[in-house]
Amino acid sequence: MSIELKIQELLNKRLEAKKGGGEKRIETQHAKGKLTARERIELLLDEGSFEEFDMFVTHRCNNFDIGKQEILSDGVVTGHGTIDGRVVYVFSQDFTVFGGSLSEAYANKICKVMDQAMKVGAPVIGINDSGGARIQEGVNSLAGYAEIFQRNIMASGVIPQISAIFGPCAGGAVYSPALTDFIIMSKGNSNMFVTGPKVVKTVTGEVVTEDELGGAMVHASKSGVSHFVAEDEQEGIQLIRKIISYLPQNNLEDPPLTVCSDPINRLEDSLNYIIPDNPNKPYDVKDVIHAIVDINEFLEIQRYYAPNIVTGFARFNGMPVGIVANQPNYLAGVLDINASRKAARFVRFCDAFNVPILTLVDVPGFLPGTAQEYGGIITHGAKLLYAYGEATVPKVTVILRKAYGGAYCVMSSKHLRGDINYAWPGAEIAVMGAKGAIEVLYNKKISAIEDAAAKEEFISKSEEDYRDKFANPYNAAKYGYIDDVIEPRNTRFRVIRAFQALATKKDLNPPKKHSNLPL
Ligand code: HXC
Repeated sequence: MSIELKIQELLNKRLEAKKGGGEKRIETQHAKGKLTARERIELLLDEGSFEEFDMFVTHRCNNFDIGKQEILSDGVVTGHGTIDGRVVYVFSQDFTVFGGSLSEAYANKICKVMDQAMKVGAPVIGINDSGGARIQEGVNSLAGYAEIFQRNIMASGVIPQISAIFGPCAGGAVYSPALTDFIIMSKGNSNMFVTGPKVVKTVTGEVVTEDELGGAMVHASKSGVSHFVAEDEQEGIQLIRKIISYLPQNNLEDPPLTVCSDPINRLEDSLNYIIPDNPNKPYDVKDVIHAIVDINEFLEIQRYYAPNIVTGFARFNGMPVGIVANQPNYLAGVLDINASRKAARFVRFCDAFNVPILTLVDVPGFLPGTAQEYGGIITHGAKLLYAYGEATVPKVTVILRKAYGGAYCVMSSKHLRGDINYAWPGAEIAVMGAKGAIEVLYNKKISAIEDAAAKEEFISKSEEDYRDKFANPYNAAKYGYIDDVIEPRNTRFRVIRAFQALATKKDLNPPKKHSNLPL
């Protein structure tokens, strides 16, 4: 065969591979409002940067007549490319080929990109759209999943791993995304569940739709499994590009600096007046975040889950920073089980990938009650405590208003190796609020006062004394637990200065095999 014919053969094979499961199945995919595996990669990566691996791989199974159908690429498109010029590895499951189901050969393709991503120290992005284990392959398919899980685990904390769910993701297949750092689900077409609606009905009698059981909003708001909801795949893909822009390539690098067009000494007068006079009145902590970060840009993570704590990425003078903030607008910003789990995982992610952490504190304490105690608030609250205490990245804290009780300790206090701790002038740092404190301290005394007016006067005088003593930041500042009390409008500048000073921070934890954090 002449070289011309050989080249033609190559081009024909490439064309064949690109057709995946064929025109008809591509049409069905489009009719569902879904893109194909390759179209998704095209949108995700910088134009023309994709280098595909293993296009000519086929499955090696003969069970149930599947041997008669050998489709080039075998249901997953893999390779590497760039996002904003930085290398990433990708795999994109192709639903048009055997429903995107996972064979042994397909798993090997994914493992190959994961192994190479680990060697070069680059993120892995997985796009999921699959009917799960390829039934015809039996245990070989299960083995393939487990090989991927093992790689997810080894890569955790070494390279960023991002999962997009743009179709079904069922059974044990959910555990690969669950082991990655961030999950993005598109509304409408995506779902994740360990067992589907049919099995649920058989086992428990419960009748639910796929969307009710494991749709994008369910996992964003109820289970907390997913981190981002996208209106459609295009938006989801842009989100992945954005997330990557905040992250280093691996755990040995710092996050990428960008040029900052926002003046670092920009004063934000509105912040001097943002805290309501009444300490029980809420305000939106996201207004504070937007006011202080570069160009008001904040990428919120898990927006719909435990909104009493806000987590996300922003930049200060071009430097990526992870922000954790109590949200007085929801449940008064209280710490509960879900908020503790959400923030703990985020703090650990930031620490693993050298992203400095800014903590904005306005917290009335931990949520009381049987539901929380029975649900294990002790263990879950300890997760956040643990995460902050373990973190060695630069940690800057600003107490905006309340920092009560154990929640004061937890929220990146000086005692958990907080590096620079500031407070606004209206901060209240105490074991608890005035009302509760006086009830505990003077319970017997109050009961003994018979005259109602005298009782009222005693209570209000005692509360006032308590507030004078504790409802200010100076008591904590007296002991050096607060490094400085800052004017709210100056916060952006002071936070930037703090992170600049901490840029070369080195801190170590004692050597150990691994910790035994309260899982
Ligand atoms: C082989 C599969 C398949 C699978 C789908 N197909 N899932 N082939 N193994 N797991 C094939 C179908 O036969 C069909 O082939 C094509 O893919 C498209 O599937 P449809 O059913 O026509 O598509 P749709 O109606 O959109 O339904 C999609 C679906 C459904 C909801 C995903 O296919 C489904 O329920 N599949 C099985 C899901 C499942 O139970 N998987 C195993 C989970 S357990 P043709 O030739 O007709 O086009 C698991 C264990 C992992 O994954 C363990 C890890 C530890």
